[in-house]
Amino acid sequence: MLEHKSDGYVIAIIGATGLVGRNMMDALLDHQIPIKTLRVFASPKSVGKTVLHMGREIIMESLDDASFEGIDVALFAAGSSVSLRYANAFVQAGALVIDNSSAYRKDLKIPLIVPEVNPEDLTLSGIIANPNCSTIQSVLPIKALDQVFGVRMVSYVTYQSVSGSGQKGIDAMHHQEGISVYKHDINRSVIPEIDLFLEDGYTKEEHKMIDETRRLLNIKDLPVSATCVRVPIERGHAVQMTVSLKTPFELSRVKDVLAAMPGIVLIDDPENRLYPVTEETIGTDLVHVGRIRRDLADPMRLMLFVVADNIRKGAAGNAVQILKLAIERTTI
Ligand SMILES: NC(=O)c1ccc[n+]([C@@H]2O[C@H](COP(=O)([O-])OP(=O)(O)OC[C@H]3O[C@@H](n4cnc5c(N)ncnc54)[C@H](OP(=O)(O)O)[C@@H]3O)[C@@H](O)[C@H]2O)c1
Repeated sequence: MLEHKSDGYVIAIIGATGLVGRNMMDALLDHQIPIKTLRVFASPKSVGKTVLHMGREIIMESLDDASFEGIDVALFAAGSSVSLRYANAFVQAGALVIDNSSAYRKDLKIPLIVPEVNPEDLTLSGIIANPNCSTIQSVLPIKALDQVFGVRMVSYVTYQSVSGSGQKGIDAMHHQEGISVYKHDINRSVIPEIDLFLEDGYTKEEHKMIDETRRLLNIKDLPVSATCVRVPIERGHAVQMTVSLKTPFELSRVKDVLAAMPGIVLIDDPENRLYPVTEETIGTDLVHVGRIRRDLADPMRLMLFVVADNIRKGAAGNAVQILKLAIERTTI
């Protein structure tokens, strides 16, 4: 159970050399998390490397040799197999685990949290799952709309950057030798394949968006569909969404509702060519929403374009925001 610590928390980052792990260090600073000690872990090949945090060099540890005693919070960003092997050992040693992998997202006993959307589901012990990157940015506007108008149906088309595949995705885009991540040259194609294909013709990534949207909004039977596409940019994901509402709406009211949602920045001024672009979200945990239109094919449907930094709000930032919420709860 996470308890209030007046002198700060002992925090471990697992996967600290990776894209998400490195960005966790920035997010911890940005969200002013009180840190007593930071411990960093990576694979055996990285043991002994150092990272710089607040002007101090911290030495990378290996999970096999280390003791987990005394760690208050463990932020996992090393993939599902590492989470499945070690997360419970951290919990047993007394840590709250916040896991970025997909290992525990389908386990209904494990809270799946986006702080602006379902803070009430957070617990202060055990494992907390951080949702899929594209889903995190998508559920903020849907939650805002559902609270006021009621949501009847959601359809997603994504444009996901290569960093969503980890460092190896970026290396593949820069043609590093020996790197084979995508079936096609990502510099020459948009590729409608993210994660494995399943029997119904959808991919696992598409099913993650469908299942996790329902779970985060707590609407078990919400009709949701998704097509997930990899695009040749380094960082930032965009989602074009069509949302069918239960009650008639005015666009001006929709914009007010979205602008009032914590975590959302409304950028929707077509006359001045202002709309959400991925680059403007990089390094932040904000979700930019714009291109808001009534669907010409159905007046009860709304079209939105939603962008965010997949490494920050889609992973490291949301995990640290979960930690911030947990710390606030300990002081209540
Ligand atoms: N990239 C995204 O947009 C995104 C979004 C949401 C969630 N996630 C999830 O976040 C996790 C990390 O993704 P990433 O993009 O940061 O990947 P990444 O850049 O490939 O980094 C992977 C990290 O895991 C470490 N690692 C690998 N095997 C390990 C082991 N046996 N023991 C300890 N550490 C080990 C690596 O250490 P070495 O450097 O020593 O190999 C590295 O620090 C994944 O579960 C991913 O699905 C990623």
